[in-house]
Amino acid sequence: LKILFVASEVDGLVKTGGLADVAKSLPAALKAQGHDVRIVVPFYRQIKESAESVQLLETTLCVETQPKSVDYRVHQLHSGDVTVYSVDAPVYFDRPALYAEENVGYQDNGERFAFFSAAALDLCEKVAFQPDVVHCNDWHTGLVPFLLRTRYANSAFFAEAKSVITIHNAVFKGVFNYDQYSLIPELIQRRYLQLEQDHSHISMLKAGVAYADKVNAVSPNYAAELLTELGSHGMAADFQQRAADLYGIVNGCDYGDWNPETDPYIKQNFKASKVSLARGKKACKRDLQQQVGLPVVDVPVYGMVCRLTEQKGIHYLLPILRDFLVNNVQVVILGSGDPVLAKSLRDVSEEYAEKLAFVEGYNNPLAHSVEAGSDFFLMPSEFEPCGLNQIYSLAYGTLPIVRAVGGLVDTVIDYDQTPQVATGFIFKAPTPEALLIKLQRSLLLYCQNPQEIKRLQQNAMASRFEWQDVAEQYVRMYNGEEDTALGKVS
Ligand code: ADP
Ligand code: GLC
Repeated sequence: LKILFVASEVDGLVKTGGLADVAKSLPAALKAQGHDVRIVVPFYRQIKESAESVQLLETTLCVETQPKSVDYRVHQLHSGDVTVYSVDAPVYFDRPALYAEENVGYQDNGERFAFFSAAALDLCEKVAFQPDVVHCNDWHTGLVPFLLRTRYANSAFFAEAKSVITIHNAVFKGVFNYDQYSLIPELIQRRYLQLEQDHSHISMLKAGVAYADKVNAVSPNYAAELLTELGSHGMAADFQQRAADLYGIVNGCDYGDWNPETDPYIKQNFKASKVSLARGKKACKRDLQQQVGLPVVDVPVYGMVCRLTEQKGIHYLLPILRDFLVNNVQVVILGSGDPVLAKSLRDVSEEYAEKLAFVEGYNNPLAHSVEAGSDFFLMPSEFEPCGLNQIYSLAYGTLPIVRAVGGLVDTVIDYDQTPQVATGFIFKAPTPEALLIKLQRSLLLYCQNPQEIKRLQQNAMASRFEWQDVAEQYVRMYNGEEDTALGKVS
């Protein structure tokens, strides 16, 4: 198949979250299976400054019936051995950040990504890449399926192209005022894409969900949640309408990057065998404690790496953090984002300097050290479409403590439900108390039954989320195959 993979970030070039990890690994796995994949990503300042690229063309996006046009260039670069087309329009992408500065989104994000979506299709003809599948990701690319069915409805070039939209996070709906869509005049006639509450705005995600040939969430459980009022972030009706074409496919793990046997960022590489695991984790724990300035003592360490947002359940952790820190434990939190959450964490870490290390920032090497050096990994998310960090922690024998939501349910096996095959701990209620109970439970097991913890660590390290398997599922979805293994929810 010829696959055009359109995403707003790609790990290795530019990254703010898990979407970038997927946009690097899934195209690579598809390519390894013999498909011709091309990625399209904006030419952000961060890419311009760090990646080697070759300019392929200089052109203009013209919109019929509109005076508006935008000049842009296309640069060719690489993500591994996958070709990347990077859309260079300095007016939109030559900025200090991708989406927001100091937690405030750029005012013209709608216009920026409407342009990006239109350019992704515009450039295909110009570079003569005729896709069979146009694979879109999240709201940034939601107008691509819409344009295929409107602007390009009679285009011979795209006659065979089917579109897919992958929902990584439906809380971000890409809602903007009509003013921002002057490059997409076709939207004006589509009143049902407006929000019920506010007729002057259109959601780019709604457009993607309504017009893509197939829609998939990044886990079966999140796909099922998207059909409910509670779990759909207010879009249940949109997803219900597409239920016949809705799939759930769990993300994979890039074991090239996240492998304790070869990870160059960690103090001592280790395997799942008992001796190697015990020695390796001990060395990595000491190293982590040193890096974050905690006393080097033999206590259980609970790690957490995340964007600081309510999504990640920090509001469940904060109210019980002091209670938990009364125990003989250490907690290491690495995160950046919401300044209010950061301040609260900083306050607790100042009070409990010997037990809580809060490192504010984005730091990939330290993220690896946290995964390797912790005993438990905290991911008490309010919602979690898939989650990658808990999958990475499994690979390092760091037992995840997660809430029963989204992809966390599809990737972690709870000790209290099925101890024999368990890989971590799951709590249900969206409350600080429920989290505290599981934290205490894990601590008790750590102190009273270290053999059992070792067994769970080995279970965790044996779990596998191979991108090759995931890519096969995507191809079956592209081809319209029906089978339950695809996480079909209806
Ligand atoms: P989300 O995409 O919702 O942020 P995921 O768990 O899917 O959550 O993916 C997060 C990705 O971003 C992982 O690769 C994780 O290691 C990385 N990450 C998140 N926050 C940080 C941070 N503060 N420092 C380093 N890496 C981070
Ligand atoms: C989003 C989700 C996260 C998911 C990631 C990659 O950022 O929040 O749960 O793992 O996308 O699909």
